[in-house]
Amino acid sequence: MIICSCANVSDKKIHEALAGGARTLADLQQSLGVSMKCGRCKESVLGEISAFYGSGPGPQGSGIPQHLLPQGL
Ligand code: FES
Repeated sequence: MIICSCANVSDKKIHEALAGGARTLADLQQSLGVSMKCGRCKESVLGEISAFYGSGPGPQGSGIPQHLLPQGL
């Protein structure tokens, strides 16, 4: 399924990037070009990151899974 239509990036491509070490929205923006134009896909991309790492996105939608953040944030 296409997640970012602007960059023509599928959920499979996002999963491959996450499996290859991408951890944040910024990582996926840099490697795949997602969420760089209209931004409609941002929540979906963050959802894919959260699903992959098994927790919710970090503060301010950073895409950093909670378990990777220092305590108290
Ligand atoms: S759908 Fe991803 S930037 Fe437009």
